Amino acid sequence: MRLRHIKGCEDFIHEADECIEEADARTYKGKWHLLFNNNKDIHIEIGMGKGLFIRRMAARYPDINFIGIEKYTSVLMKAIQRLRLERQTAEYDKTDINLCYACIDASILKDIFESGEVSKIYLNFSDPWPKARHSHRRLTDKYFLDIYSTLLETGAKVEFKTDNTALFEYSLESIKNSDFELDFYTYDLHNERRIENIMSEYEEKFSKNGQKICKLVAIRK
Ligand SMILES: C[S@@+](CC[C@H](N)C(=O)[O-])C[C@H]1O[C@@H](n2cnc3c(N)ncnc32)[C@H](O)[C@@H]1O
Repeated sequence: MRLRHIKGCEDFIHEADECIEEADARTYKGKWHLLFNNNKDIHIEIGMGKGLFIRRMAARYPDINFIGIEKYTSVLMKAIQRLRLERQTAEYDKTDINLCYACIDASILKDIFESGEVSKIYLNFSDPWPKARHSHRRLTDKYFLDIYSTLLETGAKVEFKTDNTALFEYSLESIKNSDFELDFYTYDLHNERRIENIMSEYEEKFSKNGQKICKLVAIRK
């Protein structure tokens, strides 16, 4: 995905309390509970974009700590601006914040989290990288699944949503060759009435256009 660079976004991220940069994130390995000042479970979204999903999740589940991971500073800047806007209008307790962002690439997650430190991983509308020669960049490629398996304990879940059927099928295959087993999948999430669903920004956009949303849940073996 090509992104427009926003002038000054690196400085903005550097100054923002809401976001942890890579060097600091590395120092939190095995100690993320200190950042949140509690021992609640940690759920992460990898490739959160502007962060609508993870903000909604953090508001819905105050007993879980959420970390939104995004590699591009220009995207993170928008995510932080939106978070600040919401915090201006909503009532929230500054001593009990259960959401932060981290400016890192998914490929270094092993250096950021200790084994078993993460209880759940969300992947929403990950970039499809349609060319075969770029398949290793897909966030559901075996390369990334192997990284995720080191962060999660047995029984922990990865939840993945996409509008892209080719990426979805690639992901279903990828899981077969990994430390995960498939728990559930659907090619039409929004018609599965029994499943609670929090929409991401891309999900809202695609479903408004009538596109079906695929979802899979994989469990760490
Ligand atoms: C298509 S957007 C989806 C955003 C959001 N999850 C949603 O559903 O609205 C994918 C996001 O993943 C980020 N991303 C892609 N590869 C990544 C990686 N290796 N590490 C961290 N973020 C990544 C991109 O920068 C982009 O913001």
